[in-house]
Order: sequence, then C-alpha cells, then structure tokens
Amino acid sequence: MKILVVGGAGYIGSHMVKQLANAGNEIITLDNLSYGYRDAVKYGEFIEGDLGDTTVLTSIFKSRDIDAVMHFAGFIQVGESVLKPAIYYHNNVVNTLNLLDTMMRHDITNFIFSSTAAIFGEPDYTPIDEKHTKQPINPYGHSKLMIEQILDDYDKAYGLRASCLRYFNAAGADPDGELGERHIPETHLIPLVLQAASGRRQDIKVFGDDYPTDDGTCVRDYIHINDLCEAHSQALQRMIENDQSARYNLGNGKGFSVKQVIDVAKEVSGKEIRVTMEPRRAGDPAVLVADASLARKELNWQPKFADLTEIVKTAWDWEVNFLSKQ
Ligand code: UFG
Repeated sequence: MKILVVGGAGYIGSHMVKQLANAGNEIITLDNLSYGYRDAVKYGEFIEGDLGDTTVLTSIFKSRDIDAVMHFAGFIQVGESVLKPAIYYHNNVVNTLNLLDTMMRHDITNFIFSSTAAIFGEPDYTPIDEKHTKQPINPYGHSKLMIEQILDDYDKAYGLRASCLRYFNAAGADPDGELGERHIPETHLIPLVLQAASGRRQDIKVFGDDYPTDDGTCVRDYIHINDLCEAHSQALQRMIENDQSARYNLGNGKGFSVKQVIDVAKEVSGKEIRVTMEPRRAGDPAVLVADASLARKELNWQPKFADLTEIVKTAWDWEVNFLSKQ
C-alpha cells in the first residue's frame, strides 16, 4: 500500500514508518519538524510541511495514489493543554479537520488516528474497555475525543473509514537501536527515570505518593512502541478488509506504579536512582489500565513485549547508546 504518515518524524510515527516500510509498503512522511526529527525518518519519502497547509496536502494527494493516511501529528502534553488550550484545539482539531477534508476531496477514505486514554478522564472502573464513558478532564483529551466524534459523523455521511487507537502509556524504543523517544521537553516517566540513572538528570521527581494504590504512587499500563505500531498495521488491514471503522484501547492490561517503574529501571541499568517526592501533578488519575481484549480478539493482536523489564531495557539501550551521546 501507499501510506501517508503525518507526524512520521516523531516518536510513535518514526517507529510506524519503519515497521510499515519493512512490511513492504510505500511510505510518504509529512512532518513540520516542530517536535520531530528529520533523521528519525529512515525509510520512504520525506516532505517537510504542516497538516494545516492545504496546498501541501493537495499536492501530495494529487500526485500520489495514497491508499491510507495515518495521523501522529497531535500535540500530547496534558499540562500544556490546560495552560494553552488554543494551540491544542488549533493543531489537534482544526488542522486534523483540514487533513480530513482534503482527504475527502481526493476520495481517500482510510484513516488511522492516534487517540489516547485521556479521552476517558477519571476512570469509573479499571481495566478500561471501549464502552467506558468518555469524559476528558483536560483540553488534550477533549481535542482527541472531538476528532473521534467527527470521524463517526464523517463515516456516516462521507464513507470515511477510521480506526482510532487509544494508547495508554507508550514506552520503549526500537530494539535495533535505530529509533527511540526524544521529546523536548521530556515529560514521560520512563525516559526521565533513565536520564536519572545515566546521570543526565540529578533525580526523578515522583508526583504524589498519597494515591489510593498499593504503594501510594500512580499506576499506569506501559505498552512497547513496536507492539503499538503492530496494532496500527493490523487495524488498517482489518478496516480495509471489512470496510468498517473501529475503536481499540491498547495496553498490556497490567498496571505498574511509579515506584515499581523506578525499581525496574534500577535493576535494568544497574545504577542508583535518586528519588525526590513531590506533590501530585494536576490531572493525574490514580490508575489507568487498559482492557485491550477487543484488539486481541478482532485484530489477533499479541503484544510481544508484555514484560515491563523488556520494555525498559530497550529504552535504556536508547538512553545509553544514543541520547547520552548527543
Ligand atoms: N511521573 C512522575 N514523575 C515524572 C513524570 C511522571 O512521578 O517526572 C508520574 C506521573 O505523575 C504519572 C506517571 O508517572 O503518574 C506516568 O506519567 P507520564 O507523564 O509518563 O504519562 P501519563 O500517564 O501522564 O500520560 C500518558 C501519555 C499522555 C496521555 C495519558 C493518558 O503520555 O499523552 O497517558 O492519560 F494523555
């Protein structure tokens, strides 16, 4: 297939491009490099441009016979979305709408969308399945849910088929060592803990130990980046075969507390990690764990990195062999 990957220079997008290219697809990456890296796009064609730019999109769709579009170019920082909602609604909603409308004008009807566990808000129960109520508690979650709703309506009215994949905590790096997580600023737990282990950061700050969990720290469901990408490929294939839109929650179904993650990082790195306790971070639910049985059943999806130690190992290799050398 010929696939346009929007945001293919970012963390998840770049791993996706590699996996799709290795599976024999022809890939075109569109990325404005606001957060992505040109050198993270190691396969296929690269076009520097913005998904809000109709001229660039039109020229791509006119000159190439695109079969499907995957969209990874969303802004992702929950805290920032509370302080600057306008940029989240502009980029994540308005620009995505522009992409969808341009696709519709060129009769491109297959779409894979990066959604998030943040659409559920504070969970009523865990593990969280697809039926769980959707009540986001921040503009980031709202912006992703708005697109999911728009996709429902476009499906009915225009025949746009879309699979929305709700990620829990994407983590780890390409086991070949070619790609990994490179956010600036980095806000995610695992890369920050590993920076503390490698000495690039003094300590890891734990945001709250008074949650109603076994050790008082927040519990999350960490899923390896390659397993996440695998689910996208399978979702695209199934969506095209069945001519049907879908929604999937993606996680391992197993929760780990912040303290447990730090312990695993100590074990994997063999380093001491200094821990500083901090107050709770605004907007953090105590427990987020996915019920991914629908993806397992319908997509025959089987995560290969079901073990947190294996996930952290790949991230540690990236920290030591790439990030520490920058
Ligand atoms: N944490 C710390 N210290 C840090 C960083 C994080 O204690 O320095 C804690 C957080 O408070 C949280 C856990 O580690 O309890 C995981 O935090 P991350 O920032 O790594 O991930 P989140 O669960 O906050 O966010 C992830 C995605 C978001 C998505 C969200 C869905 O990164 O894009 O899941 O709820 F919106």
